[in-house]
Amino acid sequence: MNPSPESSNAITIWRNARIATLSGTSGWGLIDDGALVTQGDVLQWVGSVADLPAHISKFADLQVAADHDLQGALVTPGLIDCHTHLVYGGHRAQEFEMRLQGASYEEISRAGGGIRSTVAATRAATDAHLLSSATARASSLMTEGVTTLEIKSGYGLSEADEARCLRIAREIGATLPLTVKTTFLGAHALPPEFAGRAEDYIAAVCDWLPRLHAQGLVDAVDAFCENIGFTSKQTQRVFEAARALSLPVKLHAEQLSDQGGAALAAQYGALSCDHLEYLSESGMAAMARAGTVAVMLPGAYYFLRDTHQPPIARLRARNVPMAIASDHNPGTSPGLSLLLMLNMACTLFRMTPEEAVRGVTVNAAKALGLSDRGQLLAAKRADFCVWELDHPNELAYWFGRNACSRAVYGGQERNPGVPR
Ligand code: NIG
Ligand code: FE
Repeated sequence: MNPSPESSNAITIWRNARIATLSGTSGWGLIDDGALVTQGDVLQWVGSVADLPAHISKFADLQVAADHDLQGALVTPGLIDCHTHLVYGGHRAQEFEMRLQGASYEEISRAGGGIRSTVAATRAATDAHLLSSATARASSLMTEGVTTLEIKSGYGLSEADEARCLRIAREIGATLPLTVKTTFLGAHALPPEFAGRAEDYIAAVCDWLPRLHAQGLVDAVDAFCENIGFTSKQTQRVFEAARALSLPVKLHAEQLSDQGGAALAAQYGALSCDHLEYLSESGMAAMARAGTVAVMLPGAYYFLRDTHQPPIARLRARNVPMAIASDHNPGTSPGLSLLLMLNMACTLFRMTPEEAVRGVTVNAAKALGLSDRGQLLAAKRADFCVWELDHPNELAYWFGRNACSRAVYGGQERNPGVPR
């Protein structure tokens, strides 16, 4: 009988692939006629098929659990969606209509709509509904090769409702085969019970954080630093609370205006600053110094019909690592296709296909503080996708076409979207 892939001395071979390893800091790292060897949840070896026998012969005690012939298909690292707001009730199709008739996102927000309307719908929703709707969304993302997903809270805005949303995010990570990282976004908007009392609300958010963290619900802390969100001073208070718990921070920064959020976040060693349409030169310099990842969210730019582009060429010139995410949320980016975001990042922002693919693999991993994935190299986690494509640049080229045929999560092949 074949040993099971779970047994520690069993390896699984995946051969005859064109592998885009994304090794190093640029290029595709292509290996034609490549092979991968997995052992447990890690990649034990990646190289040319020609070198495979010599590699395997070094391990006399290993048994081959399975040997897959990929028949020339493309293999890439599993995709990483590093910025989503997946857990929420209701939708905002009506607001979309209002915006099409001329109302702005800010006007709707100031009139009590926007994030606050989703907060009301989320609070009113049952746990079962929040879980099943968010699980369905995560499954959609998985069908296109997402193997790691960040999920933010931020539509509960009370201690109990934020805990509920984070718990649901954790549950998605426990029931689907993908990895879920959670981010506490209590400072997303001012809930109605704190109207006119933003300082008190920030104090409450800072008070909740240690308890949410103690329950194992928080991997990182985020805020919405904006004229319709929170000031940089208020954001700083949240970052101080995160720092006291040694939690990494990220920021929704300079989406609609320049608030100096990126420079502040960089001062706190932020993993990422996200949106960045109005990023200043000094904010960018601070990010470059701190090694903070710039996360591009072309879905929100597109859906808000924004015209102020993030400064891609200047970020590139400063070697700021760039990631791309779906920003899935009901208000500004109700899309569930990370592949479409790659296409949009190229067409709308003039990123290159290589930057786009690195933006949902190695740089997205960095935006989540994960060094064990995003590239196909020995000792990295065995998360990868098989695509019925010739070249990785096609991931950014096709839109509305999903060529992902197989996905492997920590060494285990699973049907994307099917609970483990
Ligand atoms: O990333 N900008 C703030 N947060 C979300 C939008 C949330 C909403 O409108 O519901 C974003 O775009
Ligand atoms: Fe967002």
